[in-house]
Amino acid sequence: MDKIVIEGGHPLKGVVKVSGAKNAALPAIAACLLTGGPHTLRGIPLLRDIRTIKSIMEKLGTVFKGSGDVLEVNSDNLTAHEAPYELVKTMRASILLLGPLLARLGQAKISLPGGCAIGARPINLHLKALVSMGADIHLEHGYINAEAKKLKGADVFFDIPTVTGTENIMMAAVTAQGTTTLRNAANEPEIKDLAQMLCAMGADIEGAGTDTIVIHGVDNLAPCEHTIIPDRIEAGTFMIAAALTRGDVDIQGCRPDHLMALMEKLQQTGAEVTKMDESIHVKGPESIESVDIKTMPFPGFATDLQAQFMALMTVAKGWSMFRETVFENRFIHVSELRRLGADIEINGNQALVKGREKLLSAPVMATDLRASASLILAGLVAEGGATEVHRIYHLDRGYEDIENKFRALGAKIRREKGPSV
Ligand code: EPU
Repeated sequence: MDKIVIEGGHPLKGVVKVSGAKNAALPAIAACLLTGGPHTLRGIPLLRDIRTIKSIMEKLGTVFKGSGDVLEVNSDNLTAHEAPYELVKTMRASILLLGPLLARLGQAKISLPGGCAIGARPINLHLKALVSMGADIHLEHGYINAEAKKLKGADVFFDIPTVTGTENIMMAAVTAQGTTTLRNAANEPEIKDLAQMLCAMGADIEGAGTDTIVIHGVDNLAPCEHTIIPDRIEAGTFMIAAALTRGDVDIQGCRPDHLMALMEKLQQTGAEVTKMDESIHVKGPESIESVDIKTMPFPGFATDLQAQFMALMTVAKGWSMFRETVFENRFIHVSELRRLGADIEINGNQALVKGREKLLSAPVMATDLRASASLILAGLVAEGGATEVHRIYHLDRGYEDIENKFRALGAKIRREKGPSV
């Protein structure tokens, strides 16, 4: 297994370009199952999760071409409808195949995603919505077996705004008979991006980006061209890194309107944050002020940036309180940050961080994607030798070329190869 080795203490300086958003690219690729192609997707990041969804779809008969960040997707001849356990267990977002497969083929068999490092993460709301649209769903031998001759429009109320749930049902509904209304829908930017792509394919969707989405079923869809939005979580990770290292970084190719909550919080730490049309400049403060964080659905503070912001608060002046309201178990980075000397107490879904003057290097273990990013950030300021971050395959699921991007900003960071997993 590869590890990342970081010599801390070097302020980040320069320009970094943000890649396309993983969490927008995954549903966009899944949406290409809805009709034959070729569809052309631009801004696809080179990530392990993208390779995983491609592998599953190749088994279904989809053909992929393209190079760099351009992906040509052709699902003309689908020959199977099953997403197997071996692949789904490495990526929960495989559930995104359920809606489009059911819409296109009238059947889907998807391995039931298990719990994961950040919580139980049930998919009951996806299934309930599909049942209300007329699908017949059985769970057997660890698989979801779904069938529907023709999905029908329905009024769907989500108990909790679910991001992939909203995306799944939006995809299922575009060719359903009649109108589907999603209430208490998630309104993350990735959902609006998917709706734009579906509309480019001929779908009729109103309200994406609000909590009520109305989808009028259409008879036919056509291939489309679509450019994925920039990754707001990658951009946010670099913004926090700039503040933490007391650096001076231009984060280019991002969408400031997707990062308002983080910009506000960083300014409260004393960082200088300047937004332009498609870039954000962050200059770190001399002394980092503590701020409290409560994670919320968009446009609130993203749960996917909580671990990284906590790394920042470990060296802030005073105390900060973190409240995680989206997932029940998203503090797994805490015990590893403590190995670097961080002073953090957890009480249920709250974590109290007492800022310290410095962190000290140590070997640490990545436990999930955003926890890995948090440890890399902490390593950038840990003193007294090298910090080794192990199990970084988690990081490769969601950050494109991260060590090279950090190195270009002046970080002393390298990947050491190990046997593959
Ligand atoms: N939930 C249910 N039942 C459901 C679905 C969700 O109870 O059927 C609960 C979840 O357990 C959670 C809350 O609803 O407590 C919100 O979960 P959501 O469904 O919105 O999460 P997700 O769709 O599985 C996506 C991102 C996550 C991100 C969350 C929240 C993708 C592929 N994943 O997950 O991204 O944290 O939304 O914004 O879009 C990451 O990129 O590291 C990551 C984990």
